[in-house]
Amino acid sequence: MDGKIVFTRGVPPPEAFPAEELSECFDAAIRNDTAVVLQYGQQPGYAPLREELAREYGVSEDEILVGNGSLQLQDLVSARLVRDGAVVFTEQPSYDRAISTFRRRGARTIGIPLEEDGISVERLEAALSREVPAFLYLVPDFQNPAGATLSLEKRRRIVELADEYGFWVIEDIPYRKLRYRGEDLPMLREIDSSHVITMSSFSKLLSPGIRVGFMLAPSGLIRDVTTLGENTYLSPVLPTQAAVAEYLKRGWLAPNIERLKELYRPRWEAMSGAVRRELPEARAFIPDGGFFVSVMLPEGANTENLVGRAKDIGLVLTPGSAFFADPDDGEPSVGDRFVRLPFCAVSTEQIDEGVRRLASLI
Ligand SMILES: Cc1ncc(COP(=O)(O)O)c(C=O)c1O
Repeated sequence: MDGKIVFTRGVPPPEAFPAEELSECFDAAIRNDTAVVLQYGQQPGYAPLREELAREYGVSEDEILVGNGSLQLQDLVSARLVRDGAVVFTEQPSYDRAISTFRRRGARTIGIPLEEDGISVERLEAALSREVPAFLYLVPDFQNPAGATLSLEKRRRIVELADEYGFWVIEDIPYRKLRYRGEDLPMLREIDSSHVITMSSFSKLLSPGIRVGFMLAPSGLIRDVTTLGENTYLSPVLPTQAAVAEYLKRGWLAPNIERLKELYRPRWEAMSGAVRRELPEARAFIPDGGFFVSVMLPEGANTENLVGRAKDIGLVLTPGSAFFADPDDGEPSVGDRFVRLPFCAVSTEQIDEGVRRLASLI
């Protein structure tokens, strides 16, 4: 197979977008609630969408903020919680844009090693004995970039630690509903919500371009972040929020998620199989859902200029080190051996060939 294969894009492919249905919802939203939807206002987000989310998550409407994508909400939360010299803990590796957002807000960002069943609680406890972070940022379900899912036991311990030491836990769950096998584990907030901020998004369930993301948190924090949002973007983008509200009201989300799972499952199987077949020496994270398989290449692997050499043979990779925060123990980062393999926006043929090309380089 010829041609460039792109393993950098953790995005939905064009065939994932429910374009016709969304068009209908945009049309209805703008016609039915024109004066509100086309006006400035409703800073915590479009009220009917907040009502839908309040019902789904069992919270009150003043515990919900709907903003322009979840990354911007993470940025606003960081602006609110990160004081000079503050530290933030993340999984190691973690979502690259989250790491850079926290750093941009002045946080020292420390990565706690990720294991197959989520962050190492032992290393987290050791780090807590040295300093308490402003918050711990986790992607508990089908993590970006590694694919790992946090075990129930660790979920329980982490909320206990948050109560004991008094730090916030951000659980960022944009992939949670895209599970291909197994049973859902409770969200951290379902175990104990007192120190938990939940972030999620419609980017992976409907479309990233609509920029509809939301957070759930105690009402005082929601109020503060809403004010920061108002001072940043004046008004959230109400037409897209109203279209999402309409989509939910019509009961179209659950069938769309089923359709997406059918679309992605063969790609997930292909990536999982290709990694096992072509990279048997690597430590692979095979997820139960989401967008990413990943591998930690063996110590002796040739990782010298891996991204450059991959490009020369038509394979586009993200440098593994982008997903690594400062190490928690001063050890050199192993980021050069880490490879994230997003599988949703590539065909099964591209997956097989791309992983073959990767294996030929190491
Ligand atoms: C873990 C995680 N959080 C947040 C985002 C950003 O989502 P949004 O489009 O809602 O800003 C992404 C996007 O890839 C992600 O992987």
